[in-house]
Amino acid sequence: MKHRNSSLGIRWTALALLAAMLAAFTGCKQESSTGTDTPRPGKKLVVGFAQVGAESDWRVAETKSIKDEAAKRGIELKFSDAQGKVENQITAIRSFIAQGVDAIILAPKVETGWEPVLKEAKAAKIPVVLVDRGISVSDDSLFATLIASDFVAEGKMAGEWLAKKTGGKAKIIELEGSPGAAPAIDRKKGFAAGISAFPEMKIIAAQSGDFETGKGKEVTETLLQQFGKEVTAIYAHNDNMALGAIEAIKAAGKKPGQDILVVSIDAVKAAFQAMVAGELNCTVECNPLLGPAAFDAVEQALKGGTLPKKTVVQDRVFEQSGAAAELPNRKY
Ligand code: AHR
Repeated sequence: MKHRNSSLGIRWTALALLAAMLAAFTGCKQESSTGTDTPRPGKKLVVGFAQVGAESDWRVAETKSIKDEAAKRGIELKFSDAQGKVENQITAIRSFIAQGVDAIILAPKVETGWEPVLKEAKAAKIPVVLVDRGISVSDDSLFATLIASDFVAEGKMAGEWLAKKTGGKAKIIELEGSPGAAPAIDRKKGFAAGISAFPEMKIIAAQSGDFETGKGKEVTETLLQQFGKEVTAIYAHNDNMALGAIEAIKAAGKKPGQDILVVSIDAVKAAFQAMVAGELNCTVECNPLLGPAAFDAVEQALKGGTLPKKTVVQDRVFEQSGAAAELPNRKY
């Protein structure tokens, strides 16, 4: 009996200690009227960034923009590279929540599957700012805002450019982005809309190259073996896959940019170099320099201010003819 009493006593002491620790932890933050936790004045902001990976030049530029902006504003950034795996991104968000970050920036790999973890962030009163890609959720209060390009518009610009360039006649290989990713879904839709008025613009094969140079090359090699005699154009959902495709076209003994036209999306420096070399015909911009807008949104959300649900980044089309003049101006 005596032993039972003393073990109860130990349990009560442990509980009291835990309660005190929790009180001390929650006392670090003040709750704003919106239900979002606001950091104490003078306290350094801590933000977690759950990045997809480093699959493309675009992605590397986006990471740099966010890291640079955090450093510029004196914000402590906890960075996680999910190496292309959605489950790693989810684990990273859970770890940011457990560490009690002030806000989370998420570049979601795919559109679906975010609801449970975003509910956990909401319950912990941590605002989530989405950058680059949108998600599909039934409750849009699960994220503060989305800052991204209009991927449908980008695909449409690429399709319209190719239709104009070819007089409305082409046999096209489409290199798709990662399955389930917003830019892969939307750029496909947009391109189809862009060529829809031209019955002789035909997509003869479409396959994912996962937004990567190596996979873009591999997929193009295989598709050229099957369709090499008829294909007249390649549309890639990003520049890196187009650069891989250019290698494959050369390896097949053809001239990229002449025998086979190549159009893609991102407008990274390497794409401009390929245009100057005459191997890429056109690239549609997708601006990855999202750091300043992302941290403006984080700061606004933490102040309890109102934010638009989506901010659309404006993009442009670049052709070979203007590439040499534009190359020195490219920031990514
Ligand atoms: O979500 C943006 C896309 O993802 C970029 O076009 C691509 O390069 C990246 O990997």
